[in-house]
Amino acid sequence: MPVSIKSAREIELMREAGRILANVHKQLGEALKPGMSTMDIDRMGEKLIRGYGCIPSFKNYNGYPASICVSVNDEVVHGIPNRHHILREGDIVSLDAGVIYHGYHSDAARTHAVGTVSPQAQKLIQVTRECFFEGIKYARSGNHLNDISSAIQKYAESFGYGVVRDLVGHGIGTHLHEDPEVPNFAQDKKGIRLRPGMTLAIEPMINAGRADVVWMDDDWTVVTDDGTLSAHYENTILITEGDPEILSLP
Ligand code: MF3
Ligand code: CO
Repeated sequence: MPVSIKSAREIELMREAGRILANVHKQLGEALKPGMSTMDIDRMGEKLIRGYGCIPSFKNYNGYPASICVSVNDEVVHGIPNRHHILREGDIVSLDAGVIYHGYHSDAARTHAVGTVSPQAQKLIQVTRECFFEGIKYARSGNHLNDISSAIQKYAESFGYGVVRDLVGHGIGTHLHEDPEVPNFAQDKKGIRLRPGMTLAIEPMINAGRADVVWMDDDWTVVTDDGTLSAHYENTILITEGDPEILSLP
């Protein structure tokens, strides 16, 4: 599929979707505490999303059974909320959420510390967030997609971290996943040329150890192969004539 260029009207709807999602993440982040179950987070997230008049886009997407992906410690992404999985002080937890507002999607993820975590865990969370901001420096009209991908990889690997290869970011709009794919690692080709009106979900998934991941028996939860911690940070962004706009931040 060709990469879609959003109209002014579509961009306005995606801005509102992003604003709502930013609020959902803010409230989930503030509510997070030891003793909560990962299911509690999903329940709260779904209620918040629907309260804003949105649809949780992940629910039933390819059969995914929840509204929020909750991935703890060595879980990379797509953790399935479970009422028996209780968060404990020292855990790190990645929350990935998507909303649909008047037919337009926004997708964003944050990794949080539960109470006090190890300095190593805190560093991983921080660097993963910084990876996104390294990438977005290159999210400018006239640049190529690979400029974003290689900047993220270079930054993550400078800390000795593993950049997940098996999952990538994506275009986003009337569908959660649109072209192009947005890898977090360098490609042989430059990729498409970025143009104003393109909307992308840029989402580094970074492992404290090796890059390899495996799928668990539930066919959803992705975990690091070597058991090390993993963090995820994602925003939906808009390419403009000038600086990129981060739609899913306040
Ligand atoms: N942020 C994830 C992605 O971009 C969310 C998809 S999870 C699913 O792929 F549950 F919806 F599949
Ligand atoms: Co995404």
